[in-house]
Amino acid sequence: MTRTSALEARTGDEARAALGRLRAEVAKVVIGQDAVVSGLVIALLCRGHVLLEGVPGVAKTLLVRTLAAALDLQAKRVQFTPDLMPGDVTGSLIFDARTAAFEFREGPVFTNLLLADEINRTPPKTQAALLEVMEERQVSVEGRPRPLPDPFIVAATQNPTEYEGTYPLPEAQLDRFLLKLTVPLPGREEELGILRAHHSGFDPRDLRAAGVTPVADGADLAAGREAVRRVQVADVVLGYVVDLCRGTRVSPSLELGASPRGATALLAAAKAWAWLAGRDYATPDDVKALARPALRHRVRLRPEAELEGVTVDSVLESVLATVPTPR
Ligand SMILES: Nc1ncnc2c1ncn2[C@@H]1O[C@H](COP(=O)(O)OP(=O)(O)OP(=O)(O)O)[C@@H](O)[C@H]1O
Ligand SMILES: [Mg+2]
Repeated sequence: MTRTSALEARTGDEARAALGRLRAEVAKVVIGQDAVVSGLVIALLCRGHVLLEGVPGVAKTLLVRTLAAALDLQAKRVQFTPDLMPGDVTGSLIFDARTAAFEFREGPVFTNLLLADEINRTPPKTQAALLEVMEERQVSVEGRPRPLPDPFIVAATQNPTEYEGTYPLPEAQLDRFLLKLTVPLPGREEELGILRAHHSGFDPRDLRAAGVTPVADGADLAAGREAVRRVQVADVVLGYVVDLCRGTRVSPSLELGASPRGATALLAAAKAWAWLAGRDYATPDDVKALARPALRHRVRLRPEAELEGVTVDSVLESVLATVPTPR
């Protein structure tokens, strides 16, 4: 570990450098997937939750495990299985025979970074328990609220909903995720790189052996957040965010467009992206870059469009192409 004290104040520049090291650390293990790594870092900066979606075997779990190993924060992982109960996630009251009293045993949500793996393999009741604490950042037991640590960020993974044995996340609650990141299949060169790493002995179960160490901590995230808050956004750029969201509401392919909450998410993510790029002002391009991850889970296709094979991303693409970009 390179840092002295976790509570020592950092400057914005130090925080940005630390987050650059964080990306490099993840890249020691995960080949490619730069856009997903960027999305994860933006979520950390915004203290937002992220949903990673992709077919099996594209390193969704590995990405989040590596990110956690490169952060000096507490992290826990829960495998969401069909028999997982709400109390297995949030915690539950346990009877202590010695004291003849009930005691609260904290569930895995009492952590900084929670990897909620394969979240759509668990039934709705358990999903709801997690989604509720994501929103409230506390667990209430017998009327007593117990606050979660700060930061508390959920990185959830899921397979595309058409996969068998999955319970789609309740649509109304999907917007508790700041971003939904799609994890694509790697390109040919990247896949070759993956094979080379495995061929020369890389073991995804042992991240320490792969050289991953904590390079950023809560103080870096706090300083980064503070700097992101100061990012300037011109009125025309704010207007662009609003116009894009309004554009989704009038799209003939969508029956539900992005809400004002979606607009605020897009703005927050674009500011974080601008700051990561070394600027203290956000541009329309920052907004464009984050429009899909910030909005794709907040809109709903019309059934007719879905039948015709239209995808949410293609609709967002055409909204981006139609709404005039401010100059
Ligand atoms: N981009 C990549 N870089 C490095 N390794 C990769 C990459 N993509 C896949 N792998 C390899 O594939 C393995 C499978 O990844 P992982 O278990 O994280 O997939 P997943 O997307 O979580 O799949 P599932 O949906 O089945 O849980 C990794 O442990 C790693 O060995
Ligand atoms: Mg996985």
